[in-house]
Amino acid sequence: MKPVRIGLMGLGTVGGGTATVLLRNCEEISRRVGRRLEVVRAAARDIDQQTILDPAKVKLSDNADDVVNDPDVDIVVELIGGYSPARELVLKAIENGKHVVTANKALIAIHGTEIFKAAQAKGVIVAYEAAVAGGIPIIKAIREGLAANRIEWLAGIINGTGNFILTEMRDKGRDFNDVLKEAQELGYAEVDPTFDVEGIDAAHKLTILASLAFGIELQFDKTFTEGISKITPEDVVYAEELGYRIKHLGIARKTDKGIEMRVHPTLIPERRLIANVDGVMNAVLVKADAVGATLYYGAGAGAEPTASAVVADLVDVARAMDADQDHRVAMMGFQPEAIQDIPVLNQDDFETAYYLRLLAEDRPGVLADVTRIFAEHNISIEAVIQKEPEQGETRVPLILLTSRVIEKNMNDALGKIESLDAIEGSVTKIRMEHLS
Ligand code: HSE
Repeated sequence: MKPVRIGLMGLGTVGGGTATVLLRNCEEISRRVGRRLEVVRAAARDIDQQTILDPAKVKLSDNADDVVNDPDVDIVVELIGGYSPARELVLKAIENGKHVVTANKALIAIHGTEIFKAAQAKGVIVAYEAAVAGGIPIIKAIREGLAANRIEWLAGIINGTGNFILTEMRDKGRDFNDVLKEAQELGYAEVDPTFDVEGIDAAHKLTILASLAFGIELQFDKTFTEGISKITPEDVVYAEELGYRIKHLGIARKTDKGIEMRVHPTLIPERRLIANVDGVMNAVLVKADAVGATLYYGAGAGAEPTASAVVADLVDVARAMDADQDHRVAMMGFQPEAIQDIPVLNQDDFETAYYLRLLAEDRPGVLADVTRIFAEHNISIEAVIQKEPEQGETRVPLILLTSRVIEKNMNDALGKIESLDAIEGSVTKIRMEHLS
């Protein structure tokens, strides 16, 4: 059979990894597909610097338009990242009748609806396994492996850089910025690292996972996002003392009232497997009605792990490109006409447990005042620790764990607690999930 001809756009960390894996595993891959996957075109800004592809075999250019307009290219691989010109290039490739493989989570989360619609109309495939959790085949797992199930919730460590930072801070007491710099040097971090530490990258990925899990539109703007930059070493230590770890989680949950989509630091019991996912590794825990809980673990960033997912998509597209649309897996898991308009809950309606840290005057009645306010808001306290005051200090840290509560109730209660004379400053609040 004729080879499948591939055009690569972008030869950075993931693009370089993809070219390397395609060349190294060429024989093994063609044994699986029944055809060879050949890179025939590649474009990158600094194409003269590239050393992986043989210019005698691959047409090289510094202009990505050359790839999307090349009539000899069957599948365009977009590894440029960012919103623009990735969106325009992908839409042009689709218009030119080419299938697309992308690792671009920002593009799919924000422009996915437009892109899938265009692809559907043109009869081409857009595959995006590498967009979420790097090398973990989580999209295939949700879309195909769990297709029998109603998914109830999922929770994932889906940003390698953030997990790397939290792990190094906890294990080695390293400085936040120092670890971030190392993640950038290792090629894990986004071009704009605030995307990693403020949770935007994780929110892009969670938006995609929620759509796949529940058959809803991609709604990045409705995903609640809180980063890790305000996590202090003392909260990491207190959490450990209570038997919890702080992880940056993306959580999507279907409730009777609607869907929660939220990304934030979260205390989870240290005995959970996912609490022990460290460094740049990612993991996604999915709770579904028939199978129960399943956990997917692996490298969430890096050249070859991400390339593994890109090449798996190329294999899938090569296998399905000659089938008619009805015989392909729906790009968002659900048939386009079956996508439902389920309300997405706002922050006030989230239901979760809490870790709270207060700085309180060390005198009789203060704890009683605090617990009375919680009782008035129907909030049950699961654990309390009062730390020793520092020498010469009259205020003490109070750490409380609560049971699950509606977020608005918690915020109302905290407003009253913060206005007590005996409470200094604002209360530190970190959400807590048992994931059981
Ligand atoms: N910046 C991302 C991360 C890369 O750290 O997980 C993979 O999407």
